Amino acid sequence: MQEQRTQWSSSLGFIIASVGSAVGLGNIWKFPYITYENGGGFFVLIYLGAIFIVAFPIVIAEMSLGRHAQLNAFGTFKKLSKNNPFWKAVGLMCIFSAFAILSYYSVVAGWTLDYVWESINDNLQKLTAETVGTRFGAFLASPWKQILLHTVFMFLTSMVVIRGTSGIEKAVDILMPMLGLFILIIAGTSIYNFGSGSTIDFLFNCNFSQINGSSVLEAVGQAFFTLSLGLGAMIVYGSYLPKKISLVKSTIWIVILDTMIALLACFMMYPIIFGTDMEVKRSATILFTSLTVQFNMLPGGSFISAIFYLLVGFAALTSTIALLEPVVSFIDETFNISRKKGTILSAFFIWLLGVGSALGNGASDFFTKLNFMGNLDGLTANWTLPIGGMLIAVFAGWFFKTKDKKEEFNSNELKYFYPYWNFTLKFISPLLVFIVILYKLGVF
Ligand code: TRP
Repeated sequence: MQEQRTQWSSSLGFIIASVGSAVGLGNIWKFPYITYENGGGFFVLIYLGAIFIVAFPIVIAEMSLGRHAQLNAFGTFKKLSKNNPFWKAVGLMCIFSAFAILSYYSVVAGWTLDYVWESINDNLQKLTAETVGTRFGAFLASPWKQILLHTVFMFLTSMVVIRGTSGIEKAVDILMPMLGLFILIIAGTSIYNFGSGSTIDFLFNCNFSQINGSSVLEAVGQAFFTLSLGLGAMIVYGSYLPKKISLVKSTIWIVILDTMIALLACFMMYPIIFGTDMEVKRSATILFTSLTVQFNMLPGGSFISAIFYLLVGFAALTSTIALLEPVVSFIDETFNISRKKGTILSAFFIWLLGVGSALGNGASDFFTKLNFMGNLDGLTANWTLPIGGMLIAVFAGWFFKTKDKKEEFNSNELKYFYPYWNFTLKFISPLLVFIVILYKLGVF
């Protein structure tokens, strides 16, 4: 078993792949829109607090558990808890989260493909601030387009996952830095054209009257979502990680880059919204509306637009890979079937669930009324991920043997970092998540 596991080729390869998993639609699509909905300021503060205090240690917890157990999330819980049924159930919840998130994530990822296609064909060029939203609405209501794009995306994801980690690394190596550069340039242009004052004010000026349980839980959920936490994706990635690579260093990079991209994404989209009173009909679409209008103002706009959405599509792909991988490695290692069969089987059922989300934004009354996508996203991002993350923290803090745990750190880290980390995992992270959940439930 041990010999057969593939490994990341280097520390940089691992960092790049993990950044690839972390940076995705969560940063570029979801963060700007839920921050907009939640009124910025206070929401961002909670989000940043959740990232650096609660989530950061859990990233390392997941990776160290996976590297130690050399198994998928379910297998890791099963092995390290010696078959305890409670922890096995937690493992299953993790797999469920991955399964459910991927199903709607792939739908949104498919939207980027449409934008690449339409940009190439110059079809977005005539859109203005008034018409761009309507066009997007019509696109969402087209059942065959929604299903086709979702299908294409699931297919692409499966192809990479069948090939193992080498495929992941190669795809991310060049494209992630390129995406970063693009985001910087677009954010710069948008600040240049529309100013940054209102955006900065919106993001960093805290208004404490905004505090309520729902937005606090959503901010915490987003911290988990964006760092790919709470369902064992990092357990699986950690299990491919050679012993000599420092978890702490890698994690610092992942967290900083991920946070920067999320904030920069807001600077791409907000200035035009605040600077021109562009109407936002559906906040979940601002990635596909506010930017289109801006691209149309630039020379060669269609070309820039095509490349940009292609890169976002790639960022999404490196995340969908990270979501499919936990499911596939669970199926493979639990039922002992081949990677290929496991991938095809998992991808098919995830695709099937995704049809509800593909049709749930206007294409089918039934799924639209159910708010299928929104509810699935709410259930996972706001509940199963934070609860999963909290339990992973508890597990790593209390049930992961100290001797084994310490092996995951070098001597310097053992001295300066380990005590803080272990204490946070045992007490701070689980307690904070627990309090947030109680707060949301209205207990106080
Ligand atoms: N982090 C990714 C994003 O922000 C999404 C993602 C990938 C994810 N793998 C995950 C979310 C595992 C939760 C768990 O787009």
